[in-house]
Amino acid sequence: MKALILSGGTGSRLRPLTYTGAKQLIPVANKPILFYAIEAIREAGITEIGMIVGDTGAEIERVVGDGQAFGVKITYIPQEAPLGLAHAVKIAESFIGADDFLMFLGDNLVRDGVRAFSEQFQTSKPNGMILLSRVPNPQRFGVAEIQGGQVTRLIEKPKVPPSDLALVGVYLFDRSIFRAVNEIAPSARGELEITDAIQHLIDHGYRVEAHIIDGWWKDTGKPEDMLEANRMMVENIMPSCDGTVDQHSQVIGRACIASGAVIENSVIRGPVVIGANAVIRNSYIGPFTSISEGVRIEGSELENSIILQDTVIEHIPTRIDSSLIGKNVHISKVIERPKALTFVLGDNSRAEVQ
Ligand code: TTP
Repeated sequence: MKALILSGGTGSRLRPLTYTGAKQLIPVANKPILFYAIEAIREAGITEIGMIVGDTGAEIERVVGDGQAFGVKITYIPQEAPLGLAHAVKIAESFIGADDFLMFLGDNLVRDGVRAFSEQFQTSKPNGMILLSRVPNPQRFGVAEIQGGQVTRLIEKPKVPPSDLALVGVYLFDRSIFRAVNEIAPSARGELEITDAIQHLIDHGYRVEAHIIDGWWKDTGKPEDMLEANRMMVENIMPSCDGTVDQHSQVIGRACIASGAVIENSVIRGPVVIGANAVIRNSYIGPFTSISEGVRIEGSELENSIILQDTVIEHIPTRIDSSLIGKNVHISKVIERPKALTFVLGDNSRAEVQ
């Protein structure tokens, strides 16, 4: 069995971060989302991975490499434009060949992995298998209708949902999917939809089954999803301290402090992850915060946030909460008059001030 990870797309809901980088490389608990997918695939015993990439392909290739570091072999498959999940399958046909394959959306996190899912597929040998999770608000998801163990219908964001079973972004297929992706037409939004391809399989008498998971999962399309994913992942970190914590500082609860990080006269209340060479001085870092490499926080308080590489936050008088802040950002308080807020924000930025 092979795997296909979808790491192209536009990432419009995560602008402005996605103007300068791939959304799949945004870290949660200081590890790019995409790494969790690669590790889950490896853990399921699959080592040959096709990586669909778009405009951010060079960056993804630079960070992920040939897969050796993960114990897998990665082949990059460029997609000329984000023409849909089924389009990504279509262009991977020669890479997949005659194998079955697991398709994983590169911005999805499945806490308990995909091993049981792929084992069920190998035992039951259907033509397709979808991963489902019960949700309280199925109107907001792709939803499956199931009869006698078979998937009979898939509906995108139904007004009257036939079940509470939402599609998680991981799928398993045999070769029959290639016929389906070649026969369907683009949807109203101009994309080849994977739900249409799966429905095409069902309508042509192919067997599509479902695997339901109980564990936590997340599609990290929006900033608030990233923060939720971060909360889930920092909760599971192994506490460690390779950095320096001075005697005027207090580390309470679980914290992972990387080498070269310096904590001075500060309170760290875990779960918190602090990256290499970060400096936290005269500050409070509260629960569910991930601070990347080289960040400097001085005289400020923050919690429930993700702060990316080399950003500086200094002397902010109000606590920063539920924020996703990009690389190399500078947020500071100035003392000169007139008293005013000054911003240089990229397109589609969001700043909330009280
Ligand atoms: P989506 O989140 O559905 O799409 P997107 O990345 O374009 O985001 P937005 O809606 O905010 O603009 O994509 C799910 C995953 O699949 C994500 O990792 C990107 C990837 N993808 C492709 O690789 N090729 C595609 O044609 C599409 C649509 C998505």
